Amino acid sequence: MKLGFFDSGIGGLSVYRLARKALPEADLIYYADTDNVPYGEKSESEVTRLADEAACFLVDKGAGAIVLACNTATSAAAGYLREKLNIPVIGMEPAVKKAVEEHPDGRILASATPLTCRGDKLRRLIDRVDSEGRVDTLPLPGLVRLAEEGNFSPEAVKPYLEKAFSPFDLTKYSAIVLGCTHFLYFTDSFRRLLPENVSIVHGNDGTVNQLKRIIGGSCPGNSREEYYFSGRPAGNAELSKIKLLLKRLEELEEYDA
Ligand code: DGL
Repeated sequence: MKLGFFDSGIGGLSVYRLARKALPEADLIYYADTDNVPYGEKSESEVTRLADEAACFLVDKGAGAIVLACNTATSAAAGYLREKLNIPVIGMEPAVKKAVEEHPDGRILASATPLTCRGDKLRRLIDRVDSEGRVDTLPLPGLVRLAEEGNFSPEAVKPYLEKAFSPFDLTKYSAIVLGCTHFLYFTDSFRRLLPENVSIVHGNDGTVNQLKRIIGGSCPGNSREEYYFSGRPAGNAELSKIKLLLKRLEELEEYDA
């Protein structure tokens, strides 16, 4: 069985990389819908349609389980896909529960895409886990664009984040949730800009653990990897780009909470 990973673009590689490490023998397929990124600035129905197309593509290629390595696609389409497909669909949502549990004091900033931030799924999650009203949401669509441009330079990221954080008194916050897989490319900038009292929390490990639980622990195969960009197989230039992105994510591991 192959495992399919899907994101609007390169963000989901941050989940894929951990899955590769956790399941070294598994055959993996990664689908980046780069023709249609960003999802976070589209409507829920549009994202559902695109996620449906990508998921069907992965099933046709032999995926026996699909990881929606995209909080936005999960928010819009996980329910629909679970009804439609007869294979496991593992989704991800901003790690607000983890942040609330690990940080019983102080406020929590849940950053995500605009669509995830205004979606019912996140609202319901916050209502469920945040009885004290400690969680605020913050859409950061600019980071998705910068990541897709491959622009990780502090000159571009710092002013954007400083402006986004300016309405918040960060001394009152104990954690920020990175509720979009693209944001993992910027953990160095987050760490430099945020005061020490603010921890960085994300759900990537949790998603991979959930995947392992659902497929029963391991997934024997031949360690094959296939990459597709909106349905087209990745060419050499794209494969080199993916290699560099995976390397960047690995280097950023030291900033993980
Ligand atoms: N990487 C995606 C997420 O986790 C969405 C980015 C986008 O396309 O806006 O939400």
